[in-house]
Parts: sequence; C-alpha cells; structure tokens
Amino acid sequence: MPKPFRSTPPPDSRPRPARASIAAHAPYAAPEVFGHDAVAKIARALPLAERLYANIRFSILRPKLLSVMDLLLPDSGRILDVGCGFGLFAAYFGQTQPKRHIVGIDPDARRVALAGRVSARLGLSHEFVAGDVRTAELEGPFDAAYVLDVMHHIPAADQAGVLEGLRDRLPRGGVLLIKDITTEPHHQLVFTELLDRAMVGWHEPLAYRHHQAWGEMLEDMGFHVRIVRVPDVLPYPHVVIAATRD
Ligand SMILES: C[S@@+](CC[C@H](N)C(=O)[O-])C[C@H]1O[C@@H](n2cnc3c(N)ncnc32)[C@H](O)[C@@H]1O
Repeated sequence: MPKPFRSTPPPDSRPRPARASIAAHAPYAAPEVFGHDAVAKIARALPLAERLYANIRFSILRPKLLSVMDLLLPDSGRILDVGCGFGLFAAYFGQTQPKRHIVGIDPDARRVALAGRVSARLGLSHEFVAGDVRTAELEGPFDAAYVLDVMHHIPAADQAGVLEGLRDRLPRGGVLLIKDITTEPHHQLVFTELLDRAMVGWHEPLAYRHHQAWGEMLEDMGFHVRIVRVPDVLPYPHVVIAATRD
C-alpha cells in the first residue's frame, strides 16, 4: 500500500529557528550557550584592566557554577548583591533574567562606579551604592540576596551580624545565596588563600569557615539550609549555600 502523502516535512528537515540570544525572546534557550554570551558582553563593557580581571573571575566562577546560582535566585524582583565589586554578577544575573532589579553594595567607590557603567551599557536598571554592609542603611525588603566570595572578607566577629541583617530584609521564603570557600581539603584552602592574599595583601583579615559551620549558623538564625560543593578544574573548594528564610 502506498504511503500517505506527507503535507508537512518530517521534523528533522524543518527549518530550525535561529538561536535567540536574549532570555526575553527565548526563555527556555540553552542556558550554557547563553551564559557564554552574557559573559562576553560584560567583558566588552569594561576597560582593559578590569576586562582582564573579569575574564579571570568568570573563569573561576564559570557558567556551570553561575547557572546553579542563577536557578536558585528568583527570576524577578529586587535582589541585593552584597560586596558587588565591579558588578560582574549583577550584570550576569540581570542579563539572564531581565526582570531582576539588583541593588549592589560595596565599600570600594571606584568599583561601584564601574558597576553602574557596566550595568547602564548593558541596558540594565540596577543600582549600586558605596557602603559597608555592616553599617549601611539598606532599605528592605529584598526578594532575595546574594553574597559571592565576600563573607570571608568580613571579620569573623561581624559575620553573624551581617547574616542576621540580611535575614531581616528578606520575606519568609526569601533566599539568601552565599558562594564561598570551605576549609577542607586543607591544600585547596591554602591555594585559595594565596590567591586572595595576592588581591588583598597580608594585613586584611580573611575569615574562612567550614561549610558545616555556615550551615549551623544560618540554621540557628531561622534559615532552611542546603549546601552543595561545586568541583572545579582548579583546586578551589567552592561551596554554594542556599538559605531560605523560614
Ligand atoms: C573577592 S571580591 C568579590 C566581588 C564580587 N562579589 C565578585 O564575586 O566578583 C570581595 C568584595 O567584597 C567587598 N567587601 C569587603 N568587605 C565588605 C563589606 N564589609 N561590605 C560590603 N562589601 C565588602 C570588597 O570590596 C570586594 O569588592
């Protein structure tokens, strides 16, 4: 019996849609490809020296790690970026989900100014303020907050106060996302500390904690805590902590 005439071509031969490059047009597009595009745009928006830094930073916090955090943050709303630096990750998370309005804070006024420029160049409406998270009057509430490789730069005696301050600015169910470095295995901590020292010198205190200690501290503050280690080709003992306010 002859095969029925096909009025439409078989699925494989249909023209494929062009790969969309922004989330608004293709919200379910392959996020890894999208991540690389977002990183390249951020690097291009920076002056040369900072572009080099951005490329190094994104090779440490590569799209695999960023994608984990991207999915843990809400896709819209007011989100606080503590220790925002040059605003690299505000620019990244703003590109992946344009309905995020990110407020970045960092004591380094030059970095904050540059963060504002990068964000404006990418057409994002983020805000950046120069200040110390320990003392700044940050008007909440925020829908979520994130702290990427900043907690170990805050003196040990102040860390709990900072986290409590963030908790008090989140609604119930709001996420506090922390990316930091855990303290084992020891050789990985030494590797990370040497690189941190190259950035901040020998005098600034660096206060790393084991991820278990962060978990217990956050749980005592009323967070529901999940922690994952994220392996890397370089020996960084990365941990991502998702703390949801109960
Ligand atoms: C390793 S950098 C990370 C910057 C950015 N989060 C990133 O991942 O690229 C640490 C940042 O924390 C900031 N920082 C240190 N102490 C802080 C404080 N008390 N309040 C807010 N930010 C702080 C520093 O100025 C610096 O920009």
